[in-house]
Amino acid sequence: MSDLCIIAIDGPAASGKSTLGFRLAESLGYLYFDTGLMYRAVTWLTLARGLSAQDEAAVTRLAEDMPIEVTAPSFEDGRSCDIVVDGQDITWKIRQPEVDANVSIVAAYSGVRAALTIQQRRIGLRGRVVMVGRDIGTVVLPEANVKIYLDASAKERARRRYDETLQRGGTADLAEILTKVNERDRIDSTRAIAPLKPAADAVLIDSDKLNADQVFEKALSLCKR
Ligand code: CDP
Repeated sequence: MSDLCIIAIDGPAASGKSTLGFRLAESLGYLYFDTGLMYRAVTWLTLARGLSAQDEAAVTRLAEDMPIEVTAPSFEDGRSCDIVVDGQDITWKIRQPEVDANVSIVAAYSGVRAALTIQQRRIGLRGRVVMVGRDIGTVVLPEANVKIYLDASAKERARRRYDETLQRGGTADLAEILTKVNERDRIDSTRAIAPLKPAADAVLIDSDKLNADQVFEKALSLCKR
């Protein structure tokens, strides 16, 4: 096992990975890196340029050349970083429903995954990092010191995403969110390359029965072991 201090957190949509990852990184003084935002940024750029998410060759070219900047947050509006692509602040735009509906299609393309995985691995191997995604413990950083697979029932995850949307001032339909979360999980876990699944040596945490503080304490104790 490496001595770089790499913490990998994987799990399905809205399982609480970002909340946990951000808190862990803050408390350990590590970098927090959310790989989902890269797949979301490619998806946003695809749609913003008027391309179809079904156009694998064009989407792959975008992923290979995407001018993305991820920097410290310049606003206190709940963001953990600023995401700038093509000179535009897209931090919240990547959370739009059109991106949600297309991101798993884009993330299944082998060329897209190859382009983003290289960048993620380069960042991760610097160490002192909490990296969050679907394939961090299995593919991006299999040498991670701690691997956590954070799960929860689809119903509970949809309810959390619903609450988040309302808190941000948006409108939402719980049943619709549940359908979309299930669809994204289905595509993510059945794709040929780097499917969503726990690494053989991951610790599974079921957050259905635990609140955010309890999940954090459990994960922190694993990191301090
Ligand atoms: O926040 P949420 O759990 O809804 O999703 P996310 O972490 O922002 O990831 C959005 C999508 O990107 C996922 O549904 C996957 O299709 C893809 N993704 C991936 O394939 N591999 C990763 N390491 C991270 C995200």
